[in-house]
Amino acid sequence: MIPDGSLLSAEGLCKSYGSTAALTDAEFSIHPGEVVAVMGPSGSGKSTLLHCLAGIVRPDAGTITYAGRELSAMDDARRSALRRSEFGFVFQFGQLVPELTCVENVALPLRLNGVKRKQAEATALQWMTRLEVDDVRASRPGEVSGGQGQRVAVARALVTNPRVVFADEPTGALDSLNGELVMQLLTEAARASSTAVVLVTHETRVAAYSDREIVVRDGTSRDVEQVV
Ligand SMILES: Nc1ncnc2c1ncn2[C@@H]1O[C@H](COP(=O)(O)OP(=O)(O)OP(=O)(O)O)[C@@H](O)[C@H]1O
Ligand SMILES: [Mg+2]
Repeated sequence: MIPDGSLLSAEGLCKSYGSTAALTDAEFSIHPGEVVAVMGPSGSGKSTLLHCLAGIVRPDAGTITYAGRELSAMDDARRSALRRSEFGFVFQFGQLVPELTCVENVALPLRLNGVKRKQAEATALQWMTRLEVDDVRASRPGEVSGGQGQRVAVARALVTNPRVVFADEPTGALDSLNGELVMQLLTEAARASSTAVVLVTHETRVAAYSDREIVVRDGTSRDVEQVV
């Protein structure tokens, strides 16, 4: 059952890669401003679930509903327009563009949405200040620390004021101190703007920043209260 008022929800999701069943009847829901941690063993289907919810991977079966619209029924062009305007992404290794400076990286999603350079970089700098990385604005990603790079990546994910941020192991490459800082800044910023966060993580310390945890096992997702 999908609770009322959810922003993004999924039911009956199935996805196979050849003979490997990555998702088997998975379900999910998240409210505006909610932070949901997706946990579970390696290979259980966490990233596949996140990619389906974000409209990156098309499930073989099941429905995904975003803000009352059926995401799973949209064509590729509509899904990528939705991703650019309403979703933000943070991955394990920041995946910043190495040729661009940090402020240009943060400004990039705005530039792709047609915002003029000066305005895009001014907004980018506000987010970098909030994430305490404005001092590395002119550096290239290769010249900053792992923790700084990941905070730049979080600023880039939030710069368009997305309704949902998808974060797949956002602290996976960081030491615990930087991991905590990134999580604190990500969840604070998201809660302040009612952005929902789908947070895939192995670490209970990271999951502690969430409002709710779900566990994926063998491609099936359950609320954590149902499995313990
Ligand atoms: N593009 C792909 N091609 C083939 N098999 C895939 C692909 N992506 C995922 N799989 C398989 O689907 C299953 C679920 O993978 P997934 O990446 O979702 O797991 P995960 O829970 O994110 O694992 P991890 O914690 O290691 O990141 C695994 O058996 C994996 O090998
Ligand atoms: Mg994964």
